[in-house]
Amino acid sequence: MIPPCLLRSLLSQNTRRLACLLFAICAVVGVPATASSQASLTGQELYTAACQSCHAPDGRGLPQVHVGFPDAIPDFTDCSYASREAALDWETVVRSGGPSRRFSQRMPAFGGALSPDEIARVVAYIRTLCTESSWPRGEMNLPRATFTEKAFPEDEVVLNGEWVGTGGSRVGTSTLIVEKRVGSRTQWELQLPISVREMPVGSPANWTGVQMGDVSLAIKRTVAHSQSAILSLGGEITLPTGDRTRGFGDGTVKYEPFMLAAVAGPANTFVQVHAGAEIPFRRNVAFTERFARGAVGTTIFIGGRAFSPIAEGLFWKTTRPGAPTNLDWIPQMQVSLSRRQHILGSVGYRMPLTNRDTRSRSLVAYIIWDWFDGPLLGGW
Ligand code: HEC
Repeated sequence: MIPPCLLRSLLSQNTRRLACLLFAICAVVGVPATASSQASLTGQELYTAACQSCHAPDGRGLPQVHVGFPDAIPDFTDCSYASREAALDWETVVRSGGPSRRFSQRMPAFGGALSPDEIARVVAYIRTLCTESSWPRGEMNLPRATFTEKAFPEDEVVLNGEWVGTGGSRVGTSTLIVEKRVGSRTQWELQLPISVREMPVGSPANWTGVQMGDVSLAIKRTVAHSQSAILSLGGEITLPTGDRTRGFGDGTVKYEPFMLAAVAGPANTFVQVHAGAEIPFRRNVAFTERFARGAVGTTIFIGGRAFSPIAEGLFWKTTRPGAPTNLDWIPQMQVSLSRRQHILGSVGYRMPLTNRDTRSRSLVAYIIWDWFDGPLLGGW
């Protein structure tokens, strides 16, 4: 416990360094501070007292010669880094220390020295150090559903798969998706689908093998965002790289305008929407397909892992006269696999709600590597 008078005198201009030391020691030995002793301190005052001895008064991080250890200190004023994080994630690191997320052990745990309120206040303060408002907030970087794409611009690699096995045939499609963010609000995306098919002997499409499907390239841009909502618009072009005669791809170039939106609610809940139309250039080989996808879910933290149960719904219909209305739903669960939470996995089960006699159920899964947050083999 730190007596209020001592704290106040320690916080006077010329003895701030001492206060930093005291806080760092409290943090390391886990001495609890009373709520009343720091009730009046703002986020910035807490930062000055407890954080700037490493993170520097301006938040850019002090050089190695000043801190006396070689581990790099992040630059909180760099929006490309700072805006991606949700406050909740930073609060976890401040409360439980760097190693809790496989960061440097030089980042102390303040859970014993600062109350949850104070941690929230000091994190809210460091989040003001990125001053460019064009960067969407990490709060809107919500868990990914299987087919409903995210509005948030990402730097990540996704490998997803879908497996169907009915009537003796087995079909698996795996798609490698590479997403690269450019600046604050734009993102490129490349999709490479690979299919593996095994058909029963004597069936009309009696072919077994591995084949590439239609490759596509997309660009999206965030057009509006706040602390709790985000809207992005984009376009995709698909090339007929798959062999149509074997049932891979549509045999025409297609373009797809789409919109992506998300809203974050209380208690880590979220709703995401993805809608658009896939329009073929060669109208004689394929029809336009309109689609709408949506996902609702929440995130809960258990033992340092994030679990996100999600219910996803899919609607699509082509312009072919008499075409059926397709509706599917997919209960699924996303789990953070690495401690850093930069490697995530998801498993779900896709079930048709309409035309059940002609369409099968399938198992869907993906793995994501958020490469901006750490190397594939680091942060476990
Ligand atoms: C003794 C030095 C030291 C002190 C004191 C310190 N930090 Fe850190 N902090 C670090 C280092 C080193 C890292 C980099 C960890 C890494 O990237 O491996 C870091 C990283 C962080 C991160 C980034 C985590 C992420 O997800 O990227 C946050 C947020 C943070 N510190 C907040 C604080 C706050 C708030 C305080 C004061 C209450 C504080 N730190 C005090 C050394 C310190």
